[in-house]
Amino acid sequence: MSSATIKPADRAALLGFSDIVRIRNRVLEMKAGGARVLQLEGGEPFMPTPDFVKQAMKDALDQNQTRYAPSSGIGPLLEAIRAKLAAKNGIQVSTADIIVTSGGTHALFCSFQTAVNPGDDVMFFAPYWTPIKDQVRFSGGTPVRIPWDDARGTSDLGELLKSRATPRLRVIYVNSPANPTGDVLTRQQLESIARFAVEQNLIVIADEAYEDLVYDGTHVSIASLPGMLERTITCFTLSKSFAMTGWRVGYLVAPRPLMELVRKLVLNTVNGVSTPTQFAAAAGVAHAGDYFPPLREQYRQRRDLLVRGLNEAGFDCLTPPGAFYVFPDVRSRLGSNSWKAMETLLERTSIASVPGVVFGPEGEGHLRMSFSTPAGLIEQCIEALKSL
Ligand SMILES: Cc1ncc(COP(=O)(O)O)c(C=O)c1O
Repeated sequence: MSSATIKPADRAALLGFSDIVRIRNRVLEMKAGGARVLQLEGGEPFMPTPDFVKQAMKDALDQNQTRYAPSSGIGPLLEAIRAKLAAKNGIQVSTADIIVTSGGTHALFCSFQTAVNPGDDVMFFAPYWTPIKDQVRFSGGTPVRIPWDDARGTSDLGELLKSRATPRLRVIYVNSPANPTGDVLTRQQLESIARFAVEQNLIVIADEAYEDLVYDGTHVSIASLPGMLERTITCFTLSKSFAMTGWRVGYLVAPRPLMELVRKLVLNTVNGVSTPTQFAAAAGVAHAGDYFPPLREQYRQRRDLLVRGLNEAGFDCLTPPGAFYVFPDVRSRLGSNSWKAMETLLERTSIASVPGVVFGPEGEGHLRMSFSTPAGLIEQCIEALKSL
């Protein structure tokens, strides 16, 4: 269908469309044509949603929990989140400070729309999760990138951040554990970011989507540091922790002056998350305890295997302390253009990956590969790398 006279609103120019989808479509095409593809390009947990979550969904349906819910979230879920935040994240809030969202992406969308004024600068580490740049732009902000390479291994980030501060800086987005690099900010690093945020009077948007996937060190929520709760919006999702990418449920914690707008945004975008899904989410959030340690062990084994294999194949691959991605520097084996590197690797080894430049210019010369894969796939990849 085409029309010469109608066009979308001007703000369409501010939003991109994920390049990762382009790669996914390419892989699906190859598979449909009968080709074997070793898929490391994804961003999903390798296991199914746990039974205790699925059972709670079935129970909710049997009890006809299928009507409109309060648009901010059902009571049992808000209470489960409150208790979890206090016990696990060191974030002491009441249920009025929490809102249920349609996944982490929606939580982040509401956060940027709430915190950023047109003309504001928004700082974040790069390479970054691709939608962040779009969300910053769509809120009228301008990205100010800090290379992860400059931050990694430095415990006091104050000087680095100050050197990039601008007069219009208003927000800093902090993603730890990070996609795509797998970096995990230490308590000291977060303390230095917190000092900077107070000095510059910034709102912090914390993205803790991978909070449960830390293999070396511990996850620290920046909102738990002194003076941070009143200036931090923290976004969480059940997608990665509970293998619930398709359920679309997450939540955020925000200080009162910001929560008012977040509530209006949630009301006007989704008018609340699906009611039975919220009952299932409550079971997940409340359960958590014994679920993660064995899971983390499985991730750790996959990580170590893939990192070793890539380094043996001549890539320069750091061991990521968190999330489920490796981000090797592939320049010496595949050249510095990461789109070409992705194509070459796919053609010669059938391994699908994501070009690093998709995550910003700092990612050029790298590929992102997920180690959240079925058992055995990583061994096949290592074998395939021998034919490179
Ligand atoms: C860093 C980061 N934040 C947030 C999300 C949002 O996930 P979802 O919208 O599935 O909850 C993702 C998903 O890949 C992510 O990588």
